[in-house]
Amino acid sequence: MASAGVSKPVLGVETSCDETGVAVYDPARGLLAHRLYSQAALHAEYGGVVPELASRDHVRRLPGLIGSTLRATGLVPRDLGGVAYTAGPGLAGALLVGAGAARALAWGLEIPALGVHHMEGHLLAPLLEPDPPLPPFVALLVSGGHSMLVNVAALGRYALLGETLDDAAGEAFDKTAMLLGLPYPGGPALAALAAQGRPDAFAFARPLLDRPGLDFSFSGLKTQVLLAWRRSDRSDAARADIAAGFQAAVVETLVGKCRRALRQMQGTRLVVAGGVGANRALREALVQAGAQDGFRTWFPRPEFCTDNGAMIAHVGALRLAAGERGNEAIRIRPRWPLESLAAPAV
Ligand code: KG4
Ligand code: ZN
Repeated sequence: MASAGVSKPVLGVETSCDETGVAVYDPARGLLAHRLYSQAALHAEYGGVVPELASRDHVRRLPGLIGSTLRATGLVPRDLGGVAYTAGPGLAGALLVGAGAARALAWGLEIPALGVHHMEGHLLAPLLEPDPPLPPFVALLVSGGHSMLVNVAALGRYALLGETLDDAAGEAFDKTAMLLGLPYPGGPALAALAAQGRPDAFAFARPLLDRPGLDFSFSGLKTQVLLAWRRSDRSDAARADIAAGFQAAVVETLVGKCRRALRQMQGTRLVVAGGVGANRALREALVQAGAQDGFRTWFPRPEFCTDNGAMIAHVGALRLAAGERGNEAIRIRPRWPLESLAAPAV
């Protein structure tokens, strides 16, 4: 049965991993407020996310975060037209916390709730910024769990052009950081260290750049870094050089694949999303490549590159406005291929 689109503000809830994010997005006025609580300190001593601790912390933080986000907008719950939550992909227990809370809230308010795909949230995050890109565009999604190149024809019409064959780009950053003894989460720490090193001190290979296709692979690079570190004098200078060499190899590979994807699609618009999109070296290299090849790159602000509630409220509002509705069940999809999404039936 077709239902009218939601035109009132939508509350978004993100709990797929180790960040509790809440936001309110208004279809007419844009983003009204967003709040984020990062569990990074909680997981730091384990060197990675502990799923059970993540779930329990979402339970602790989410109610207060929903309250403070709503207060920041000046709205009351009755002003909301819908609730969107991350239904997947992600950690099952963590997803269930957000899905349960969002559905309960929507049920109590008698408004629709919609499960949103986390990567679609990332993919469309640049649209939260002023002067947003219009589809069609090519998107590079590089996060802790995913690395992919996607052709975005329209909302919900995504074609996978290439993906990682092993580690995600963020995962490679995190593992390399751990190897070099940097604190969790490793990506930003490794990027900061790389800024002090010489990118050409170590000749790391540029994975798969010499072969056709748009897939990535980072596990071989990880092994090269491990060997270089073992053979080095383990000085601070060697650590910084290895970090710089690693970052240069990842950046060059990602940029090379983006250029190839844009040529293949005859596209002039590139969108970068996901946590690694916050990397300054990657941003600078893409802007430079675009100046040479004639494409423009859009980035979300760094806080919307990593996990956040704003991207979920945004996608939820777009889909709810198009009349999409979830059924009442609290259903999560820890594994959920992006390509299985459909454009909303308007
Ligand atoms: O998108 P995101 O917040 O979470 C996932 O959905 O995975 O991405 C987190 C990933 C982590 O691997 C983190 O180390 C990486 O993004 N990251 C970075 C930077 N900031 C975050 N990697 C490289 N340079 C950065 N500045
Ligand atoms: Zn993410």
